[in-house]
Amino acid sequence: MCGIVGYLGRQEAGPILLNNLRGLEYRGYDSAGVAVLDSGRIDVVRRLGKLAILEEALEKECPVGTVGIGHTRWATHGAPSERNAHPHLDCKEQIAVVHNGIIENYHPLKEELIRRGHTFNSDTDTEVLAHLIEMYYTDDLEEAVRTALTRIEGSYALAVVCPEHPDLIVAARKDSPLIVGLGKDEYFLASDIPAVLAHTKDVLVVEDNEMVLVTPTGVVLKGLDGTVIEREPIKVTWDAGAAEKSGYDDFMLKEIFEQPTAIRETMRGRVDNGKIILDELRMTEADIKRIDKVFIVACGTSYHAGMVAKYAIESWVRVPVEIDIASEFRYRNPILDDKTLMIAVSQSGETADTLAGMRYAREQGAKTMAITNVVGSTISREADGVLYTHAGPEIGVAATKTLIAQMIALYLISLYLSTIRRSLSVEDEAEIVDELFRMDEIVQGLLDDTRQIALMREYADKHAGKSDFLFIGRSVGYPVALEGALKLKEISYIHAEGYAAGELKHGPIALVEESVPIVAVATEGHVYDKVISNIMEVKARDANVLAIASADDSQIAKHADEVIYVPRTSEILSAVPAVVPLQLISYYIAKKRGCNVDQPRNLAKSVTVE
Ligand code: F6R
Repeated sequence: MCGIVGYLGRQEAGPILLNNLRGLEYRGYDSAGVAVLDSGRIDVVRRLGKLAILEEALEKECPVGTVGIGHTRWATHGAPSERNAHPHLDCKEQIAVVHNGIIENYHPLKEELIRRGHTFNSDTDTEVLAHLIEMYYTDDLEEAVRTALTRIEGSYALAVVCPEHPDLIVAARKDSPLIVGLGKDEYFLASDIPAVLAHTKDVLVVEDNEMVLVTPTGVVLKGLDGTVIEREPIKVTWDAGAAEKSGYDDFMLKEIFEQPTAIRETMRGRVDNGKIILDELRMTEADIKRIDKVFIVACGTSYHAGMVAKYAIESWVRVPVEIDIASEFRYRNPILDDKTLMIAVSQSGETADTLAGMRYAREQGAKTMAITNVVGSTISREADGVLYTHAGPEIGVAATKTLIAQMIALYLISLYLSTIRRSLSVEDEAEIVDELFRMDEIVQGLLDDTRQIALMREYADKHAGKSDFLFIGRSVGYPVALEGALKLKEISYIHAEGYAAGELKHGPIALVEESVPIVAVATEGHVYDKVISNIMEVKARDANVLAIASADDSQIAKHADEVIYVPRTSEILSAVPAVVPLQLISYYIAKKRGCNVDQPRNLAKSVTVE
């Protein structure tokens, strides 16, 4: 949802802004631009299209100066075009603004500003900010920004520069993420941590309704009323290499292959002598014993991780679980109280709907727990307890390793609840913990299995030209099927649907014909025979079926046209190995079709608007 950056230091700002924007390109890639303060004026370069196009322009002529701001855009107001690209300027071209978020009342503000004689050059909501700041500016940029913000409704992370203040960047945040990387005599503003990792690991997290003043002498945080706020920076543990492709063709492929590490890191320190230790959840035994209902709220792939957790919690903890898409949950008046546990799942920790859902749950008195990959993200700060997935930064827009890490974190929470509520036998619990402990090796085994990987590639080559796919599964195979369909459609643009296999004959089976490949998640479990029946139903209608099956399944090849075998696990944990081939098949199909897998069209990694 757009990424913003800023630089103030002793080096040339242009190349640093560009480089740091690369770390944020996953947030939007319709257009990009930079503004650099250059001897009393603002030099702006903006381009339609991916960052590479801006890079070409900057290679020809890069603005000179050591203070600047930049932006990579995911269009909300105004089509992707050069005139709608940020930074936006005021009438006198003395104020430049980059912004992530939505100015909800931009329409009346724009009318007012036009009445007052301002001329607009774009269709964006952001441009009103530049003109509002211009209207309030006398000679104090900080004050002008502060006053302008009192007129704004909506969300923002913004950064402003003005050549009359060549040693100052004013930035502010409300409901859109903003951090400042603290270097030695240099400072790096950004929407997200990966953008600054190459420069520093010391990061100051800006919170809602705060302003930041960046000057050569340091960074000052203030409330919107001007009071100075003291806050310690955090030390980021991700290393800079994590945000590079390291020899892989794409971030997505690299991240798929990093899944064993993501599992290991997410498990690390959380199991001791077979016992799950999750003190970070900040729930007492009494709190946990009181829970009579669990709500899981999330969007997209994180929602699928939540669906898997519903099976785990209901089976292991025997507490009813409701799982909801956050954008539905927040508007449907759900019933929660102080005995409800609400788990918000979000890799970015910034998804607007998930955050709003979590805030609603808190208002109802529910205990809230966040699962996120980003330390210091809004959801992590507002939840009562947080369990971080340690997957490292995920740059590919399609979630892969963060999904796996979320599933692991959710299994851990489920086991933790079951231990305290004594809902599983000691033996069953020990068996699950043991298997969870081996999950990194299990996934590694699958990724090292060159024969299976070759089969996935062959399958992808054969079916890359198809226009529709169906994914089916039962039990945890159902969310895996949904995830398979989502991955395929988002990176290859092939129409794909995921269904609970038992639902097929209630409608979707009408879609089945020879040209529609069916991918059936048919790993071992108590509904295995039912899935086989569903496969036979579609086979009877000439479908081509690929089955994802457990290793050593001697029956499945009789029913399916093609089979990918994954290591055998217990049923509930099987979601982890079963989803990996679906990620890889989507990847190979998308590559075969020549798609940009890391930056699929119309998508952004962090959805900070509704
Ligand atoms: C799909 C994908 C999205 C996200 C969704 C939620 O590959 O990445 O569906 O899962 O936008 O994002 P988070 O987890 O950041 O809340």
